Order: sequence, then C-alpha cells, then structure tokens
Amino acid sequence: MENGIQRVLIPTQQLQDRIGQLAAEVSKDYAGKKPVFIGVLKGVLMFMGDFVQQVTEPCEIDMMRISSYCGTGSKGSVDLVMDISTDIRGRHVVILEDVFDTGRSLSYVCDYLLEKEPASLKIVTLLDKPEKRLPEVTLKADYVGFTIPNEFVVGYGMDYNEFYRNLPYIGILSPEVYQ
Ligand code: IMP
Ligand code: MG
Repeated sequence: MENGIQRVLIPTQQLQDRIGQLAAEVSKDYAGKKPVFIGVLKGVLMFMGDFVQQVTEPCEIDMMRISSYCGTGSKGSVDLVMDISTDIRGRHVVILEDVFDTGRSLSYVCDYLLEKEPASLKIVTLLDKPEKRLPEVTLKADYVGFTIPNEFVVGYGMDYNEFYRNLPYIGILSPEVYQ
C-alpha cells in the first residue's frame, strides 16, 4: 500500500459501481433538461470525469475552483479562485463535489451560483461526512455516493497538502502523516 495510507476505505471497483448508479439516477431525473454539471476543483477531478462519462443525457460541463482547506482542517473562509464560463441563467445546474464536510464550501458555491439565477440547483457529492457539518449549515446534498465516518480521506482526487490525489482508491490517511 501507498506510504501513509492506513487502510483502503473505498476500493476502485466499489467507487466505479456506485458512480455508475449515481449517473444513471441523475440521467433519469434530468431527462430532456440539458443539465449543466459544475465541478468544484480540484478534489472533484476524478469523480467528475468518471461520472459524466456515464451520463446518458445531453449535458454541458464546467468547473469552478475555490480554496477553503489547509492541511486536514477547514480554514474557515472560502475564496473563489476560478469562475465558471457558462451562462447558467435559466439552466438546470448540478454541482459535483468530492466531499461534503463542514459544509462551508458547498454553502459558498450554492449562494454564489444562485445569484446567477439558474432554473434549478442540486448537489451531487461523492462522499458525505455528516458528523463534521457545522450547525448553521442546513444545506442537504441531493445525491450522495457514500456516507463516511469522520476520518480524513485521500485519493481519487482528494489530497493532503496536494499529495495523494493520484491514488485510484479512497484511503484513510495515517494520523502520523499530519500529527
Ligand atoms: P467543507 O467546506 O468543510 O465542507 O470542505 C469541503 C472541501 O474540503 C472538500 O471539497 C474537500 O476538497 C476538502 N475536504 C474535506 N474533507 C476532506 C478529507 O477528508 N480529505 C481531503 N479533503 C477533504
Ligand atoms: Mg471539493
């Protein structure tokens, strides 16, 4: 196993199977709606690629990048680093996110996109860590790949200080790495 990984939480095949199910469900719900999928970089990279390939409806994709995280803890504020280039007014928008943790990032992204007056706005998150949610965050994800315990995970796009994103599975980081 990769250095610093305590154990595999979600192996590659289980990720692919679940993403196929999510894409089928979303394709059915958005039939004829020409959705715009907006991925939140960088963590969503792998998930977005695998997910959109299995969407069977005509759709557009765009990305935005925010910075909200430092090491293994949320830094408390969110900045927009890269904006979308699609005009989403009147469009059915679906946000793609890697992990819904404290909820700061998704709250920021939703508020930001809602100002652009989409016809609808929903959230697909690969991972949900409900134990970490801030009490003031009432937002819910509409589609969740896996609900996971409050552990710091890496791989499949997710990082610790920018490393580990390239792993094809999701693993739990050994606490020695960040202590
Ligand atoms: P939130 O704003 O606290 O919900 O954080 C969401 C963002 O923090 C995610 O989009 C991830 O990029 C990052 N994040 C949260 N938990 C983890 C984790 O366990 N591993 C790696 N990144 C994480
Ligand atoms: Mg993210």
